[in-house]
Amino acid sequence: MNNIHYMPTKLIFDGWRKSLKDNLINGNCLLVTTPGFRKRGLVDELCKVVNPDRICIHDKVTANPEIYDVSNWLDYYKNEDFKYIISIGGGSTIDVAKAFSFFLASNSSKDILDDFNDKGRSKGKSNAYPIIAIPTTSGSGSEVTPFATLWGKRSHKKYSLCHDSIRPSIAILDPILTTTLNYESSLISALDLISHAFESIWNRNANSLSILNATNSLSLAFKALPKLKENINDINLRSQLQVASCLSGMAISTTKTSLAHSISYPLTTHFGIPHGLASSFTLPKLFKFNLAEDDGRLVKLSEQLGYKSVVEFELFLMDLFIDLEINSIIKSYLPNNQNWIESICDDMYTPERAENNLRAPKTEDIKALVYQSLYC
Ligand SMILES: [Fe+2]
Repeated sequence: MNNIHYMPTKLIFDGWRKSLKDNLINGNCLLVTTPGFRKRGLVDELCKVVNPDRICIHDKVTANPEIYDVSNWLDYYKNEDFKYIISIGGGSTIDVAKAFSFFLASNSSKDILDDFNDKGRSKGKSNAYPIIAIPTTSGSGSEVTPFATLWGKRSHKKYSLCHDSIRPSIAILDPILTTTLNYESSLISALDLISHAFESIWNRNANSLSILNATNSLSLAFKALPKLKENINDINLRSQLQVASCLSGMAISTTKTSLAHSISYPLTTHFGIPHGLASSFTLPKLFKFNLAEDDGRLVKLSEQLGYKSVVEFELFLMDLFIDLEINSIIKSYLPNNQNWIESICDDMYTPERAENNLRAPKTEDIKALVYQSLYC
């Protein structure tokens, strides 16, 4: 049973303008966001709440942020006197804010690659800047986790940072912000939260609380997601997905992710497959794979989600993925032949993630899971 630290993030479920105004911190602020949000006027809206003289705007974040870009941006901001960071955007935006928070506060001149590595950094003290996270997607759960992920596109590597100090101090959860996202992007984000929940349940580090949070997350997501396409602006559905994302973020804060995420990383670095898609397409087959060594938690999960048996739940999961057209979406990113599985097979085993999986995978298992998920 894994011990946990109590989660220090203040969660606010209310309108983002009022919530931000009520929780501002004295001093200069670095606002981290994307070019799209600036273009759409959200940054101007935010500057009506935060004194514009006190704000420095970094609006260059894109999906799957590149570690070398972040390193250059850190050089640019290193002599600024910030007191806190506001991050408004999806998981990538919050992750960049976490990297800024960690490295700008430590004022270190060493290469950030020393701290970002496959294992991440989990020990030692750091005076990270407080972060106010305002998520605009429902998937990463980054608003409540102590993790940040950056990517090396040239090196085909994924870099992790894990430190309690980078967990946001405040997360403002206003579902209206997620309604700007189109259906496909919303789906891909939601698949990430579903993956976090499953990966946290079939995880060797799970405890009663992480399993409860993950189960509640799946319960909400499975009710909301099938209705989303036809009701894209439904604020209740958006709110359910936002809470589901937060709950699975809490769950992986305890357990970290496992084999589906391990498999996903080279698919993102080699083929540019969006993270939520790459980390979820194996879930139905992984459910069956882990059933072979279930200690009762997957049986209990199936029952708690309202299914008579694990077989019935497995069928539901397979049907859901067919209805959501996951297979055809992911294949649009992949080469036509199947040789790529063999060529990146070794990279699909990241020990720090794969070893968390309930059932220990062999290389042949990983190849079979990927093949069966896509081509059977
Ligand atoms: Fe993820």
